[in-house]
Amino acid sequence: MYPIFLTDDPDAFDDIASLPGQKRIGIYKLEGFIRPLYEKGLTSVILFGVPLKDGVKDAHGSKVDDPEGPVILGIKLLREKFPELYVACDVCLCEYTDHGHCGYLRKDGTLDNDASVARIAQAAVNYAKAGAHCVAPSDMMEGRIGAIKKGLMEAGLAHKVALMSYAAKFAGAFYGPFRDAANSAPSFGDRSCYQLPPNARGLARRAVQRDMAEGADILMVKPGMPYLDILRDTAEIAEDYPIAVYQVSGEYAMLWHAAEAGVFDLKRAVFETLEGFQRAGATLILTYFTPLMLDWLEEREVVDLQARKLPN
Ligand code: PBG
Repeated sequence: MYPIFLTDDPDAFDDIASLPGQKRIGIYKLEGFIRPLYEKGLTSVILFGVPLKDGVKDAHGSKVDDPEGPVILGIKLLREKFPELYVACDVCLCEYTDHGHCGYLRKDGTLDNDASVARIAQAAVNYAKAGAHCVAPSDMMEGRIGAIKKGLMEAGLAHKVALMSYAAKFAGAFYGPFRDAANSAPSFGDRSCYQLPPNARGLARRAVQRDMAEGADILMVKPGMPYLDILRDTAEIAEDYPIAVYQVSGEYAMLWHAAEAGVFDLKRAVFETLEGFQRAGATLILTYFTPLMLDWLEEREVVDLQARKLPN
């Protein structure tokens, strides 16, 4: 599953300094960007809205589900132009709030969990109504999975839209390049009161069980490489569920820069990380390496075919 950054300048096709090789894309450029990847076998994307125009962000992230905003327009376009493409949507307020936190804040600066959950659930339902196959809340508020599931049921969409929970999402250093790309770094404080501390194996296991009980259809672990044990735990706890892992922006940038510096061959290193995810129990991998993987998998098929032909 390929993460895509959609921005509100319709003509944008901009490099992202913190994520070499990735783009911030406007709606007019989206079809042209996806077409060659789709032809190479791209099967799924996850969309992130990245508003950059002045005056779009406010205290409540009101534009999260703007019908004329990049995400809703993006869902509709992709569904129309690429009928076989699976379209997931990240659901969060942090890209749309002027303070950069993932929910509503009270006057004293603390998070208003319940008001945030109500709004996030509404946004998820609106993405689903626009045609998303999957909604993936990454805000980490308490009770959001249950609230979104209820919203999808009331809208008559729960049977056809999957709810992917960022279930075990850890607070840490690896989201830095994303926050640059999405312009969503918190203006004060951090996210450690709503994301898990890195040593919290038990909390992660409980979070996975809670999200299963609230109606998640897919469970995700994030980041990936430092959390393979959590991935294995999740695969065991949720043995009948699809298990997703997100190789996040910092992991991507780290591998890319290390390869640039001659530390290792990028292709070998990336294959090794993704095989590690599969070994640990992942059945769905979100990675910025998706376009490169499509090329590499094609190359490998050719090499395999040639190898198989040799004995003849
Ligand atoms: C929004 C969100 C983040 C990521 C996915 N959804 C940033 C964060 O939690 O700070 C990170 C993805 C990445 O680093 O590639 N809440």
